[in-house]
Amino acid sequence: MNETLSGLDHAPQIRPWVLSVATDARAAIKGQQPRCIWLTGLSGAGKSTLANALEIQLHQRGLHTFLLDGDNVRGGLCKDLGMGAVARKENMRRMAEVARLMVEAGLVVIVAAISPFRAEREAARALFGAGQFVSVYVSTSFDACARRDPKGLYSKALSGQIKDFTGLDSPYEAPLDAECEIDTASLSVEEATQVLLDHLQIA
Ligand code: ADX
Repeated sequence: MNETLSGLDHAPQIRPWVLSVATDARAAIKGQQPRCIWLTGLSGAGKSTLANALEIQLHQRGLHTFLLDGDNVRGGLCKDLGMGAVARKENMRRMAEVARLMVEAGLVVIVAAISPFRAEREAARALFGAGQFVSVYVSTSFDACARRDPKGLYSKALSGQIKDFTGLDSPYEAPLDAECEIDTASLSVEEATQVLLDHLQIA
């Protein structure tokens, strides 16, 4: 037997089962509008910090949320994936599919991942209904991220100890369709979170 896990669409005979409890019903019981708020940007741009601060604010308002952070998901569901382009695409696909399931469950999902490729971010958006996907570009510059270097990765990457580093020898494609752009170099965490809350029209 030569079974492999490579490639997708290996079970074309699968047909989706239509759930009797619809997303609208799940959302109504929670009294909220399920959405996916997707933060993209360089390593160290402030995505996780901002996503965490946003989730605290939403949670305090009684919203049912979940935060899918790239580093965390890479510790479990995506622990088989590296940092090459193919692996990052698969990482983004899995993040998007999990986010979609969570939105179908009625949650407000925040994704914080470098998610460097435009096509995969667009594919993620296409999984959601109109207005359900909010793209947030955390546009903090490479130089600002390298100065912060919260995990010491920039110094390692710049000295050649890490390869395929985003913004250095692995590309970052800035979004063209972001609903919201935040440069955390010029805003405090509180200010940046407020920009997001205003954008989401959450008082
Ligand atoms: S993504 O590109 O596939 O979306 P993801 O957000 O899940 O990336 O994971 C990025 C995290 O992995 C960074 O926050 C950083 O801590 C770590 N990391 C390890 N190696 C690299 C690398 N080569 N480039 C960027 N981030 C890296």
